[in-house]
Amino acid sequence: MQAVVYALRRTSTILAVVALTLTLTAALTGVLLAFYYEPTAGGAYQSLQTLATEISNGWLIRTIHNLAGNLLIVVGLLQLVVMFLSERLRPSWFTAWISGIFLILIAIGLDWTAMILDWSQIGFWRFRIELGTIEAIPLVGGYLRQILTGGDSISTVTVAHLYTLHSYVLAIAAVTLAIVHLVSLVFQEREINSEGAAVTAKGDRVDLDRTIRSVEEQQGAVVMAKSNRVDAPSEA
Ligand code: HEM
Repeated sequence: MQAVVYALRRTSTILAVVALTLTLTAALTGVLLAFYYEPTAGGAYQSLQTLATEISNGWLIRTIHNLAGNLLIVVGLLQLVVMFLSERLRPSWFTAWISGIFLILIAIGLDWTAMILDWSQIGFWRFRIELGTIEAIPLVGGYLRQILTGGDSISTVTVAHLYTLHSYVLAIAAVTLAIVHLVSLVFQEREINSEGAAVTAKGDRVDLDRTIRSVEEQQGAVVMAKSNRVDAPSEA
C-alpha cells in the first residue's frame, strides 16, 4: 500500500512538470500567434488563415498552441484524481491541491475565451448561445454580458475583450499557478524524503542501542563468570 501511495505521489509530481511544460508551450506559441493575429471581427479569421497558409510553420504553431491548451485541461483533471488518491493533508499538498483546481478552472477559461478568437461560424454561434446563458444569471448576468461583449452585439470590441482576458489575465494566471503547483509538489517530495530519512535514522539508532546493550550484557556475563571462578573454593 505504501508503495502505491509513493508511486502516486511521484506521478503527481511528474504530471505537475507536464502541466507546467504545456502551460509554457501554450504561452510561448500564444505570443508567436500574437505576432500575426489581428483581434478584430473578421480580421481575426483572416489573420489566422494567413498564418496557417502563408507564414512558414504558422499552421504548426497554431496546432501546437491548440493542442497544448486542450491537453492542459486533460492533464489537470488526471492530476486531480492522482492527488486525491495520494491525499495527505499537509500544507504543501493543500497548496498543490488548491493551485491545481484553480489551474484547471483557468485552463477551461482559456479554452472558453478562445471560442470567439478565430471568428469562425461555429465559435460565433456558440458564443451567442453561451451569452444567453450568462445573461440569465440573476443580478449580475446583464453586467457580465456587457463586460464580455463591450456593447449590445458581438463585435470587434468583444474580440478585443476576450483576447485581453485570454492572452493577459488568464495566461499570466495559468503560468503562475502551474509554477506554484509544481513547487509545492516538489516541496512535498522533499518533506516526505526528509521524514523517511528521519525514520531510518531513528531505526538505525534503535539497532545501535540494542547492539550496545547486548555487548554490555555479554561483557557483564563474562565478568560474572570470571568472578565465580575466582570465588569457587579450590579442590586441593
Ligand atoms: C497559458 C497560456 C495559454 C493557454 C493555456 C492557451 C490556450 C488556448 C486554447 C485552449 C485555445 C483554443 C484552442 C482551440 O480552439 O481548440 C487558444 C486559442 C488562442 N490563443 Fe491561447 N492560450 C494561452 C496563451 C495565449 C497567449 C499568451 C496568446 C496571445 C498573446 C494567445 C492567443 C490565442 C489565440 C489568438 C487563439 C485563437 C487561435 C485559434 O483559434 O487557432 N494564447 N489558446
